[in-house]
Amino acid sequence: MSRVLVIGATGLAGREVVKQCLHRGLGTRGLSRHPDKSKNRHDGAEYLAGDAFTGAGLAEAMKGVDVVIDAMDGKFGKARKQLPVAAGHIAEAARTAQVPRVVVLSIVNVDQVRFAYYQAKAAQEQAYRDSDVESVVVRTTQFHDLVTGVFDGGRKVGVTPVLRGARFQTIATADAAKALVDAALNPGSKNVTVGGPEQLDMAVMARIYRQFTGVRGPKIPLPIPGALGHYWRNGVNLVPDGAVRGTTYAEWLEERERA
Ligand SMILES: NC(=O)c1ccc[n+]([C@@H]2O[C@H](COP(=O)([O-])OP(=O)(O)OC[C@H]3O[C@@H](n4cnc5c(N)ncnc54)[C@H](OP(=O)(O)O)[C@@H]3O)[C@@H](O)[C@H]2O)c1
Repeated sequence: MSRVLVIGATGLAGREVVKQCLHRGLGTRGLSRHPDKSKNRHDGAEYLAGDAFTGAGLAEAMKGVDVVIDAMDGKFGKARKQLPVAAGHIAEAARTAQVPRVVVLSIVNVDQVRFAYYQAKAAQEQAYRDSDVESVVVRTTQFHDLVTGVFDGGRKVGVTPVLRGARFQTIATADAAKALVDAALNPGSKNVTVGGPEQLDMAVMARIYRQFTGVRGPKIPLPIPGALGHYWRNGVNLVPDGAVRGTTYAEWLEERERA
């Protein structure tokens, strides 16, 4: 039986990774800075304290592990700058503990966008490539949660924001997690890019959102300037050949609203 260490085990994606590891009967350990305080834990998994930015706790967490899945995040400021540093610490701890492979969660075409967060993600990928440990990068499209977060933000003030010209191929975190666990369990796995089952204009996603949530009020078209706008308007965030047969946006939203 493989034993998996999930870094970022309490996060949106990491929680799904832990869930799937447990479903597949794998020994599952998660790393968190505050494992005792987190509500996002699954029964059956072991949680250890550690901080990938400093490297604290990584040596202990790697003991007896066959593969590491890195699903951690650091979106803003200092944390963002620390992402590649953390990758270096994780890779070094894996090498020292003779853990053969690290699988890392990243974003479609992240190296083609001059947006600070994406540049940090690209640097994180590079830190793994530069390390002495074998790494596999699983890049996915935006999660269903991300676009829904924009709609939910508008819901609070009675509007539905729609980023002008944006088109997405959003994926359920469960489907992203499946790709990560598949890569972790297959010793011959290569870097892979996966996306959700359908490509939708954000305006269409807004229609689906309003249908399932009952939200009314005006749809507000918003410009998306800069590199991120270019990424979302010009299909750089899409992966036509990498669509999974997974949960559609409507299915995911229906489930969320029912919960
Ligand atoms: N959102 C999207 O649409 C999307 C699409 C494709 C890929 N991704 C990628 O998916 C990954 C996960 O994103 P997410 O939204 O699931 O993140 P999230 O919900 O914000 O969770 C972040 C996780 O990182 C952990 N973490 C942060 N700093 C840490 C540190 N210093 N040491 C150890 N753990 C640390 C947190 O654990 P504790 O707080 O418990 O320590 C938490 O479990 C990111 O790398 C992101 O780029 C996201």
